[in-house]
Amino acid sequence: MDLKIAVLAGDGIGPEITEQAVKVLTAVAKKFKHSFSFTNADVGAIAIDNTGNPLPDTTLQICKDADAVLFGAIGDPKYDNNPNAKVRPEQGLLKLRKSLGLFANIRPIITYNALLHKSPIKEKVIKNTNFIIFRELTSGIYFGKKNVAEDGLSASDDCFYSAEEVDRIAHLAFQAAKSRRKKLTLVDKSNILETSRLWRKRVKEIAKQYPEVTLDFLFVDNAAMQIIINPRQFDIILTENMFGDILSDEASVISGSIGLLASSSIGENNALFEPIHGSFPQAKGKGIANPLAIILSAAMLLEYFDLYEEADAVKNAVNKSIELEISTPDLNGTQKNTTNDVGEFISDFIIDKKRVLYQLENLSLGQSTII
Ligand code: IPM
Ligand code: MG
Repeated sequence: MDLKIAVLAGDGIGPEITEQAVKVLTAVAKKFKHSFSFTNADVGAIAIDNTGNPLPDTTLQICKDADAVLFGAIGDPKYDNNPNAKVRPEQGLLKLRKSLGLFANIRPIITYNALLHKSPIKEKVIKNTNFIIFRELTSGIYFGKKNVAEDGLSASDDCFYSAEEVDRIAHLAFQAAKSRRKKLTLVDKSNILETSRLWRKRVKEIAKQYPEVTLDFLFVDNAAMQIIINPRQFDIILTENMFGDILSDEASVISGSIGLLASSSIGENNALFEPIHGSFPQAKGKGIANPLAIILSAAMLLEYFDLYEEADAVKNAVNKSIELEISTPDLNGTQKNTTNDVGEFISDFIIDKKRVLYQLENLSLGQSTII
């Protein structure tokens, strides 16, 4: 398969983790005889520094012309700490999501047996957790009208949803539930918000087309608690933009590190794949950033194009790296593996797993002989 991939590395640790995902996709192309081409473009703080615009037109065009977008991370403390900044890196990502019509953000939450101990939650509670958050991504309070009073003493952000915006992601979420454990939980705040009542009404109606799927409802405050006390109860969580943003960071605690959580953002004509974590500016250039979230996002990219065998090869290599503790410090305090080491191991493993395992075996044999 020929794929044109736009690569938007962004800020902070974005470039170093993105480099690993490109390496992994290049290994997949080599192993499975595909042709993937990569075009780099600026977004976020780096784009503001270079052009004054967090999403330059050239970047948007490259994304529109591509089959898929691979996205690193954006954000820079010099903007976070300046409430008067006129442009912000995050605006680039929001504009990109809106311009590409990426209305569904899909965030799988799973556990790895070798990492259960990394979570602050009890192992017996989280073991075998496997659910997906479907977060609406191009509407709601993120995109509603904003206002700051002239005297600067009051401000507002409108939350708006149309039926169509609810319906299109609801269908995707029901279809996913149908192919999984057939349970969909709508998370809202319909005891308070009109938009949530609209979500409930539409989702109840759409549920009639998916009789095999059980639908239930949770208020977002309760959902935040349920995700921690009994995460295995969930199969598909469907929710609006801001609730999904918050709940997915919370849910990452179950996996053991936010550095593990991948996502895809899907629209009618475009798709973007990005880790859920931010730009972690404190770690920039130190080689400690975990590349697994973006590598797993690259696996989601492969699945999007029905390259399941290829995606499995990536996921198996990721699992192996975790099992062998070839991991960055967020996962593993004992070995000193860098971002690059993890990317190298995973791409080598994809290309020739026997050789990599053989070398590792010899290495450990060699070590024990020395001792
Ligand atoms: C995410 C991030 C973004 C969001 C930020 C960087 C704009 O937190 O993708 O979850 O709030 O959507
Ligand atoms: Mg977020």
